[in-house]
Amino acid sequence: MRNTPPDIENADVIRFSPIKLPYRYNALEPYIDEETMLIHYNKHYLGYLKKFSDLVDRYDINDQVIDIMQDINKYPVEVRDNGGGYVNHSLFWKMLKPNPKGKMNRPKGVCLNKIIEEYGTFGEFKNLMVEASKQRFGSGWIWWVMNKDGSTNILATPYQDNPYMPEYNSYPLLGIDVWEHAYYLKYDADRTDYVKNIFNVINWDEVENRCVVGNRSIFDVNIIN
Ligand SMILES: [Fe+2]
Repeated sequence: MRNTPPDIENADVIRFSPIKLPYRYNALEPYIDEETMLIHYNKHYLGYLKKFSDLVDRYDINDQVIDIMQDINKYPVEVRDNGGGYVNHSLFWKMLKPNPKGKMNRPKGVCLNKIIEEYGTFGEFKNLMVEASKQRFGSGWIWWVMNKDGSTNILATPYQDNPYMPEYNSYPLLGIDVWEHAYYLKYDADRTDYVKNIFNVINWDEVENRCVVGNRSIFDVNIIN
């Protein structure tokens, strides 16, 4: 039992609430199909959140969610897997955006400048993300991250690991879920085609906000809500 007043308990409930999907389940078609989104959000994402919430209660964890990620090795591995699943998908939903006109969403501003400075062109950056997804054997995520010195790099993490964890010690700008549950219904085993296509529906406004925050070196900002 937690020795905390009811309002703190309520705050925790809010802190670990799901992100509401910012668009309809079919809004990312034809790149991500409705059925995949429905299952991904309701079964996988809410499943991670439920298990994470149970673990937080069981182990009496009172830290903020990003603090938990940054100090993840002090917790059992199930906190890493389910807390990571909650954090990663909460980021992922917001990093996607419908593309009703069929013209690929493209980066701009600080974000585009960083891409050109460090990778040459947006096309080359995209190719490197696709390559990273090929090299991630098994389930995981592909990230574009900012390091504490302001430089960026492309990172592949296993399972539900994320850049906040001390092994990676960086700030996520863009994350792409490459678990089979994210693409198998539409793309079968063709992960490469899925990653290429998801670039049509990246929410570069969200990524731009994160590039600006990262540039101010605020690595502990609570970005979930
Ligand atoms: Fe997923």
